Amino acid sequence: MDQLSQTLKTFGKLQINVSFAKLTTFKIGGPARFVLSIDSTENMIAALQYLDGEGVQYMLLGGGSNMLAPDEGYDGVVIKCAAKKIQVEGNTVIADAGAQTAQVARESVKAGLSGFAWGVGVPGTIGGALRGNAGAMGKEMKDDVSSVEAFVDGEVLTLSNEECKFGYRHSAFKTMGGVILRVTLTLKSGDAAEEMKKALEALKYRNETQPKGFASTGCIFKNIDVTEVNKKTLLKHFDAADEKVQRFIEIGKVSAGWLIEQAGMKGKKVGNAEVSDVHGNFILNMGEATSVDVHMLIEQIKEAVYTKSGLTLEEEIYIV
Ligand code: EPU
Repeated sequence: MDQLSQTLKTFGKLQINVSFAKLTTFKIGGPARFVLSIDSTENMIAALQYLDGEGVQYMLLGGGSNMLAPDEGYDGVVIKCAAKKIQVEGNTVIADAGAQTAQVARESVKAGLSGFAWGVGVPGTIGGALRGNAGAMGKEMKDDVSSVEAFVDGEVLTLSNEECKFGYRHSAFKTMGGVILRVTLTLKSGDAAEEMKKALEALKYRNETQPKGFASTGCIFKNIDVTEVNKKTLLKHFDAADEKVQRFIEIGKVSAGWLIEQAGMKGKKVGNAEVSDVHGNFILNMGEATSVDVHMLIEQIKEAVYTKSGLTLEEEIYIV
């Protein structure tokens, strides 16, 4: 075994040549040369320092639930964040980046804290949710995060909410890089049972309105902001009296899934990748779909939506 593998093993559990098809909910992608699963923040910092020092290429993997990996695989080190500790201290919940978001939500409710029950319906890890400023039920990570511990440019930093520069499905980590280590949520003490009930109802709604039974990676595209310009474009292409159009203007976001449906793209296929008939913003892997199939389908969807509505879709998923 070479020096790199030997050293990697000192930080965590090492696997060699693992297919991304096994690492992601989309079940797509070629082999990752190394997969290093690290279950403590201390080891994570040591590993990152080592890899930076040696100039070895690496990428972080959270839950693998919002990403598309390439067919040719990845020649560097995929780091799986397996530190999952969740601590409640007064009104704060401190979660290691690898904790499941749904688990953080459950723990917060159990501790009598209100505000984060919505997280129960979010797949993947809290680190991944933070990076993409995940949201549901009209709330986003940004509403509850008070600080984030992260490894940025060789240093462990504590970033405030403002410093994370959250936007719709966006945070500073998407632009500046950096590895999220721990997330602190500051919540309110109060009975969150009612909140949890609503969150579980929202989850039920999603289960009824989103595809089941096939590998996918959640919504492919971001919803579109109703800016002045986009509103004009929307009303030029669709009936202002349409209930859904009115609703989108009211909430300030046009559903990408609806736009895809309007463009007649539901059920469209490239190879073994298919636009869901249930929700237009999902692409399903019908079995052995390739990354190239998905990329081609994404391009076709964007073109069709632009032609039908004059609006440009943007990917929400992380493309490796
Ligand atoms: N709609 C259609 N056809 C479709 C899809 C949606 O007509 O194919 C209509 C629905 O009938 C509804 C409206 O569009 O009137 C909104 O649909 P939905 O409630 O499904 O919400 P969405 O805006 O399409 C967002 C999130 C989902 C999240 C749901 C429910 C984004 C990009 N999508 O979808 O998140 O699960 O709300 O909370 O923000 C994800 O982030 O991966 C994701 C799937």
